[in-house]
Amino acid sequence: MDVDVQDVVQRAYTGDLPHWSEVEALVTAAHRRCTPETGGVVADYIPVLAAADPEWFAVSVAEVNGTVHTAGDVDVEFSIQSISKAFVYALVCQHYGHEVVAERIGVNNTGLPFNSVIAIELNNGHPMNPMVNAGAIATTALIPGRSPGEQWDAIVAGLSEFAGRPLQLDETVYQSESQTNQRNRAIAQLLGSYGRIESDPLDALDVYTRQCALRVTATDLAVMGATLADGGVNPITGRQVVSAGVCRDALAILAANGAYERSGEWLFEIGLPGKSGVAGGLVTIAPGKVGIGCFSPRLDDAGNSVRGQRATAYLSRVLGLNIFASHAHTLAANRKDIL
Ligand code: DON
Repeated sequence: MDVDVQDVVQRAYTGDLPHWSEVEALVTAAHRRCTPETGGVVADYIPVLAAADPEWFAVSVAEVNGTVHTAGDVDVEFSIQSISKAFVYALVCQHYGHEVVAERIGVNNTGLPFNSVIAIELNNGHPMNPMVNAGAIATTALIPGRSPGEQWDAIVAGLSEFAGRPLQLDETVYQSESQTNQRNRAIAQLLGSYGRIESDPLDALDVYTRQCALRVTATDLAVMGATLADGGVNPITGRQVVSAGVCRDALAILAANGAYERSGEWLFEIGLPGKSGVAGGLVTIAPGKVGIGCFSPRLDDAGNSVRGQRATAYLSRVLGLNIFASHAHTLAANRKDIL
């Protein structure tokens, strides 16, 4: 039997989660402490998103043992938007494997906004990474299926497996974005001109636009994140959605690219892989521990939820989640005892 050594090594994390009641209290505190934060603006380049209530705020934490802690507007559904990119990437990676996706799509940060056209030109038509729009449209085009309809069915089924419940399309959001996505059409056509999209670029864009309009709650995001945190096993359904190796790859991509040109700041402050969406969703993954789902529609100028980032930074600190944190190893001090 094959043993994935890298996965075993990744289990050497810095400590256990606090007791249930403490996590519960800290999630409530994250919500209370970040509610006064009113910075940022609600996205309006997809017209229907402008109708969101700027005060909506939800925080949800799903432990890998299936326990869920929630605070705030966790029943409000919103469109998943760019957060879908992380999970569609995982599905594609599961099918094609590590090398093919790294070569065709890439893993490096563009240092430019998520919908940059210049990034494509600067890199000779290479989409760079699956978390920006160019790379995400090219990734969606790789989803197995004999038609765009079959690809869409595979995405709905796959993302629903991550969430542990059937996700539905928000037809209004899909129509609103379809009617106004000239920029994404330009990106898709440009990638097509470089031979970077296997199918018809506008068909791939249509499936991508639909995937962004899937409705989720903050708790769905927490559970989807917890699935990536748990070697690909959904902690609610117990089903293996993708392999542990795919989770490792997806989390590396999220750490480098999940907050676009703000990914460095994000990693510095929070120390975890994560992904934002323009409707205000935010998913963060603490490997081996939890998935965190936040929702609040006011965004910073890179398109990341302001309250969501604050709440996640707080939880990362108080729950001891930062993957770069360590304690001095006691082995050296006690060497004589073990030699
Ligand atoms: O393609 C777009 O522009 C949107 N459907 C998704 C962008 C997005 O969520 C960026 N994230 N913060």
